Amino acid sequence: MTDFSVGDDHFLLDGRPVRLLSGALHYFRVHEAQWEHRLSMLRAMGLTCVETYVPWNLHEPRPGVFRDVGALGRFLDAVHGAGLLAIVRPGPYICAEWENGGLPAWVTGRFGRRVRTRDVGYGAAVERWFGELLPQVVQRQITRGGPVIMVQAENEYGSYGSDRVHLEELAGLLRRCGVTVPLFTSDGPEDHMLTGGSVPGLLATANFGAGAREAFEVMRRHRPRGPLMCMEFWCGWFGQWGGEPVVRDPAETAEALREILECGASVNVYMAHGGTNFAGWSGANRSGPLQDQALVPTVTSYDYDAPVDEYGRPTEKFWLMRKVLEEYGDGPLPALPPEPVGLRGPVRVELTQGAPLAAVLEALGDPETVESGVPPTFEELGVDRGLVRYRVGVPGPRQAYPLGAAGLRDRAVVYVDGVRAGVLTEEDHTLEEPVAGPAEVELWVESLGRVNYGPRLGESKGITGGVLHERQFLHGVRARALRLDAFDEPGAVARVRFGDAGEAGRTGLFRGSFEVEDAAGTDHAGLELPGWERGFVWVNGFCLGRYWSVGPERTLYVPGPVLREGANEVWVLELEEAGEPFVELGPGAPVRTGAPGGAVG
Ligand code: GLA
Repeated sequence: MTDFSVGDDHFLLDGRPVRLLSGALHYFRVHEAQWEHRLSMLRAMGLTCVETYVPWNLHEPRPGVFRDVGALGRFLDAVHGAGLLAIVRPGPYICAEWENGGLPAWVTGRFGRRVRTRDVGYGAAVERWFGELLPQVVQRQITRGGPVIMVQAENEYGSYGSDRVHLEELAGLLRRCGVTVPLFTSDGPEDHMLTGGSVPGLLATANFGAGAREAFEVMRRHRPRGPLMCMEFWCGWFGQWGGEPVVRDPAETAEALREILECGASVNVYMAHGGTNFAGWSGANRSGPLQDQALVPTVTSYDYDAPVDEYGRPTEKFWLMRKVLEEYGDGPLPALPPEPVGLRGPVRVELTQGAPLAAVLEALGDPETVESGVPPTFEELGVDRGLVRYRVGVPGPRQAYPLGAAGLRDRAVVYVDGVRAGVLTEEDHTLEEPVAGPAEVELWVESLGRVNYGPRLGESKGITGGVLHERQFLHGVRARALRLDAFDEPGAVARVRFGDAGEAGRTGLFRGSFEVEDAAGTDHAGLELPGWERGFVWVNGFCLGRYWSVGPERTLYVPGPVLREGANEVWVLELEEAGEPFVELGPGAPVRTGAPGGAVG
């Protein structure tokens, strides 16, 4: 195959009409050593193409500092090796329930509301990023013998803005960087989204979970010609902390898929296999009335109620969708690869050692800022994922007044003169007990994930207003950041001074070890932290992501490839209330979690 194009009624592969049966699998949500298995599952389901986003913030953590951009190329090679075509959606904004919709925190911190517009500074940052990234895509286009057939410009731009010049400039940039395959946009099938998000010369596609006939009618009003494609057929939905588990009925899902195909359209199943938001990269949404939207952070699992579950296994939905896809594909479908094997368990891991949070900050934290007056935001401190300790003095003598944090994002554990005084949130931002001066106050502030969708995309984290005593700003705030990335530096955790777990206190870093037999034959495990409140957990230095007792997710996914034959190590960073000093590992279970679908995203 050497050529792919957009015809008047169909996509054309080497000149022949073709229907795309595509499924989303994000390379950054699946351990690299498992790509091959998961891609074979997609092939066996009847898909012939794979779609992936690219998260800019994962790959450019600091301006001009790039991290493993080659991962995309290696993934596209694996896609090619699996006999699949590829659709790439490089953003730069991707939404995707990913922190900040994929925009680096330094980009939103620097450009604020000017992101996703024709702003010159934002444009220059995008240009540098695409210059670095796109060679991975360009050399793997179908015209050069690779799998890439299409590339998306931006993502659901019509749900956000109306700066079409920006979209056109982005398309021009993709072309200048060497992308020659067809470009497209994708948007909700609504008039304002399609008018805001599509531009002449680029194929327009639609995103929806049901009602293909009406959706494509709307599309036809805007685009009388061109192949029809549902670029995101939402076969499930994402989970939110504190929300209810949601499962989409498999038979109804398969019928919704059939309706798309009966319209003669192409499809990209979002998600075919969702995977996991490792390392605290889950984003958040804002829901409720525009002026008073609550933050709703996304869970660690990105299982999505997808046909291939988080553990790589076929579900009932898989078999029903496979049946539909088989009817529309060419010839019999390949057999499934071997079923993934889970860790034999339960294995109880005693966390024998612990270090208070202050000791962790001492060993792994950034230098403390000098008294800056007002509290710096996470963006000003260069923190994407992690927490910041703010310290400030209450002058005295003075009587007791309410003490709180204005503009708190998202959550703070507060100490007054070394004694825990409460937990503050964006809504409950004032301590229950008033505070007299003089006193020393510490606020340990955590980000629960940056907003990835809607007008509050890119808002900053930390104490974005100030520390208030009565109505007076307390100035002279010092801040010290503990970035999650600090745990990745080789040998970093060895610098922490551990003692007995029982003496570390209610928050801190805890560790323990366990033995594994037949690590090579183990595809995955599930990890539970009964009685622990909220924080992050690592296995052999690999960050599994956030845990939180509010649920509905209880079991964190452990990719088998991070396990070692013999001794293995667990670290738990507890930020609110440590449980009994142990965690449990077992074969794991698919996490079917979520909030009522369709409201956001
Ligand atoms: C939209 C976005 C996706 C994702 C889905 C919901 O369609 O384009 O990135 O956020 O919603 O899962």
